[in-house]
Amino acid sequence: MAFYYEEPSRTFNEYLLVPGHTPASCIPTKVSLKTPLVRYRKGEEECPLSLNIPMVSAIMAAVSDDRMAVALATEGGLSFIYGNQTIEDQAAMVSRVKQHKAGFVVSDATLSPDMTLDQVLELKEATGHSTMPVTDDGEPHGKLLGVVTERDYRLSRMSLDAKVVDFMTPREKLIVAPAETSLKEANDIIWEHKLNSLPLVDAEDRLVYMTFRKDYDSHKDNPLEMLDAEKRYIVGAGINSRDYAERVPALVEAGADVLCIDSSEGFSDWQKMTIEWVREHYGNDVKIGAGNVVDREGFRFLAEAGADFVKVGIGGGSICITRETKGIGRGQATATIEVAKARDEYFEETGIYVPICSDGGIVYDHHISLALAMGSDFVMLGRYFARFDESPSSKVVVNGTYMKEYWGEGSARARNWGRYDLGGKKSLSFEEGVDSYVPYAGSLKDNIAVTLLKIRSTMCNCGALTIPEFRDKAKLTVVSSTSIVEGGAHDVLLKDKTPYVSKVR
Ligand code: IMP
Repeated sequence: MAFYYEEPSRTFNEYLLVPGHTPASCIPTKVSLKTPLVRYRKGEEECPLSLNIPMVSAIMAAVSDDRMAVALATEGGLSFIYGNQTIEDQAAMVSRVKQHKAGFVVSDATLSPDMTLDQVLELKEATGHSTMPVTDDGEPHGKLLGVVTERDYRLSRMSLDAKVVDFMTPREKLIVAPAETSLKEANDIIWEHKLNSLPLVDAEDRLVYMTFRKDYDSHKDNPLEMLDAEKRYIVGAGINSRDYAERVPALVEAGADVLCIDSSEGFSDWQKMTIEWVREHYGNDVKIGAGNVVDREGFRFLAEAGADFVKVGIGGGSICITRETKGIGRGQATATIEVAKARDEYFEETGIYVPICSDGGIVYDHHISLALAMGSDFVMLGRYFARFDESPSSKVVVNGTYMKEYWGEGSARARNWGRYDLGGKKSLSFEEGVDSYVPYAGSLKDNIAVTLLKIRSTMCNCGALTIPEFRDKAKLTVVSSTSIVEGGAHDVLLKDKTPYVSKVR
């Protein structure tokens, strides 16, 4: 007879935290969000790889490329570069993150001289960059011909057909520096000449990097950035359970710091075989996470197979239709709570702590706090990051509002059928995800600052200065459907939803 769970499976929205005593010493600026990323002998050794904030970006083509990885590592988190691309392309992305020198930017908004003002504006919208170098071939390392900034065009006076070559600040008027210039020297030149940017060029006058006044400042302002021993950004990469024998060596060679098997359902022999292959060829030098699972048995299977961390969640993702198409899944809160218990039980038995990651279904910032309180060591988010300038997807206007495209890895658009691999030859597939729009939200930096402040504030309300302390002190309560209504604004007419108002004296 089938097994029945006694309790319904629940989502984050069905829980709230009841505050505890807040000592005067407990203020948001003192909260540490450091959290382990990979397995270790807790109490006997330091975790070999920790995150400085408990957030990683999803293994998705609409979310995690090299630009996202640099932006998130700067803030203390980590991206897993998506795996549904050729091995060469994925390794190149990893390599670009590892070679990225903070403050030295390989421009992703480079112009060619024959582009029009209209195209410049489009690129500015899409990338969020207002300073764009002009090169002979429009490539980031072409011969430098000039720079376009907002000061070079006046929209009220110029035609949108105007050519870049006719309004850019030309090369002869630019101050540039040689490619070998250090960041400190570049910054001195920027200040001395009151510049906003300084192109670095090689002996043939080809553009190598752009340096910006704000980047130098922000570098000093990012105490949480995730750097390796050689001061390069830390980056992860997604893999699958089919081509690992070729993909893993290329990613390791490119410098990936941690891998994760990307699958919608990870309680399988294929994941075990993938982990075993990595252990056989790299021992414990290569870190590899696995998943996704939603119960104790799934966690134990992967922990015993040697996974460095285990991802939790099936069917909760915003773009996910797995529950509708296959009837597989579990409420994200229930799954997180059960797997966290299994992790603690495994630790009690073995002395080995295997971090868990709640993946998918985070809608509001407070869901991150709930996931941490329920025992998640960190969370993975797709929709959240897809909304930012740094995500690889296109920014579009939908009904007069800026949106970003966001599609599931199981959608017909991604065609990442390997993520749903159940072995054998595949001739037929069906979708487990949708293609969608999400509201454009601006820069990652601005948004994540607010999100983290909310998490830190919630932790202080519960009297906690660290994530483990938060977990110990958290008091969680299930809310009734009526009190969910009470939790939002209610019984008032919202001004921003009330367009027509006439004044009465
Ligand atoms: P979100 O943060 O709620 O948008 O969820 C992101 C997570 O959804 C990812 O990290 C994946 O685990 C999962 N996911 C990505 N693409 C698909 C899909 O097409 N179908 C089902 N789940 C998906």
